[in-house]
Amino acid sequence: MRIAVLTLFPGMLEGFVRESILGRAISSGVIDIRLVNIRDFAYDKHQVTDDYPYGGGAGMVMKPEPLVRAIESVTAGVEPRPHVVLMTPQGRLFDQARAKGLARLESLVLVCGHYEGIDERVLSFADEELSIGNYVLTGGELAAAVVADAVARLVPGVISPGSSLLESFQDGILEGPQYTRPRDFRGMPVPEILVSGDHEKVRVWRRKEALRKTALRRPDLLAGAKLGPEDLKLLAEIEKEPEPEGL
Ligand SMILES: C[S@@+](CC[C@H](N)C(=O)[O-])C[C@H]1O[C@@H](n2cnc3c(N)ncnc32)[C@H](O)[C@@H]1O
Repeated sequence: MRIAVLTLFPGMLEGFVRESILGRAISSGVIDIRLVNIRDFAYDKHQVTDDYPYGGGAGMVMKPEPLVRAIESVTAGVEPRPHVVLMTPQGRLFDQARAKGLARLESLVLVCGHYEGIDERVLSFADEELSIGNYVLTGGELAAAVVADAVARLVPGVISPGSSLLESFQDGILEGPQYTRPRDFRGMPVPEILVSGDHEKVRVWRRKEALRKTALRRPDLLAGAKLGPEDLKLLAEIEKEPEPEGL
């Protein structure tokens, strides 16, 4: 998959694309991430990318020409046409379902705004607007990093097969508790069942604890989750049990 991030501050994202799983996926050729400096597409010799808002008001607005020229530089002649996403707090809320959808694409362009935002006419050069939450960031770089990370780890070959299967939101609920060594940490032992070696019992326990966590912390997710007969039975059991501490 190819991801181009259009930004005025590529330096903000250089470490992010170099490090961690994403860095490895880039080295192994599964993902290609390009940081494109919007300033390189400004017309004038001072490379101005922002201007005062028409009608007055505080702050500066990103000018349409450099932005649209930057978008065109990564989309022109490319087949299939890359999917262009504007990062904005006014967009649709980004979630795991959208990450899955975007991970199926061959090519993604993430456009980062800055200052007071971007000229409204740029919207007609984008396929979608995405927000990463109901708060306002200074610029779109952190939002683009969130989207790129969540999407890239779903691309086959980026993380080991199966490791995302039980993750939170993957099938609409939260992941259950996880443990590693030591077996006893400061008087808190690992649940016996996890060291029993009985794979079926471990599977059912994990499912039940995932359902319990979701019911306690995010009951809103249960309403939309795909639950089978086993899940409904486990939920009925959970309802009869006393609430555990610390969940
Ligand atoms: C200070 S914000 C502009 C906010 C704009 N004036 C508004 O009220 O909607 C500057 C840039 O940060 C990015 N940004 C801020 N919050 C965001 C969010 N929650 N999700 C995605 N991008 C965001 C966008 O690219 C935006 O153009």
